[in-house]
Amino acid sequence: MTEKIPIGSDHAGYEMKEEIVGYLKELGYEPEDVGTSGPQNVDYPDFAGLVAGMVSRGERKRGILVCGTGLGMSITANKFPNVRAALVMNEEMAGFARTHNDANILALGGKMLGRDKVRAIVKIWLQAEFKGGRHARRVGKIAEIEGRKGYGC
Ligand code: RB5
Repeated sequence: MTEKIPIGSDHAGYEMKEEIVGYLKELGYEPEDVGTSGPQNVDYPDFAGLVAGMVSRGERKRGILVCGTGLGMSITANKFPNVRAALVMNEEMAGFARTHNDANILALGGKMLGRDKVRAIVKIWLQAEFKGGRHARRVGKIAEIEGRKGYGC
């Protein structure tokens, strides 16, 4: 079955998000575009919440978020339980985000990276697999911290 990948952006990530939607189709995935749908100013937390919510509730395995820098999207997405959003700037980080961190949201800076770099990052992040083992222990500790009363204390 074709994997559905929710994807969202703010205005600053809009053009890059459109580019990634097309690329996901090329790669054989089914992008679910939650917006934004044009260059008009919007607020990144609104779109981060739509994608991160779907991943957090287990409705989708993973998703992609794009803003100008990727910072606002990653900060917001990481407020959601079960979400591990990684802000990725290059191919090496894309690989580690999956193999070591089991990142289930890819956050990108649409104004920071060019089209070819983003395509390379997206492809690696989609195809690399979590290694488990000692990395599973570490990811488990993230979940344990998330579950503590008072969050992290
Ligand atoms: C919008 O101007 C910009 O702040 C946003 O796209 C993002 O870079 C925030 O982290």
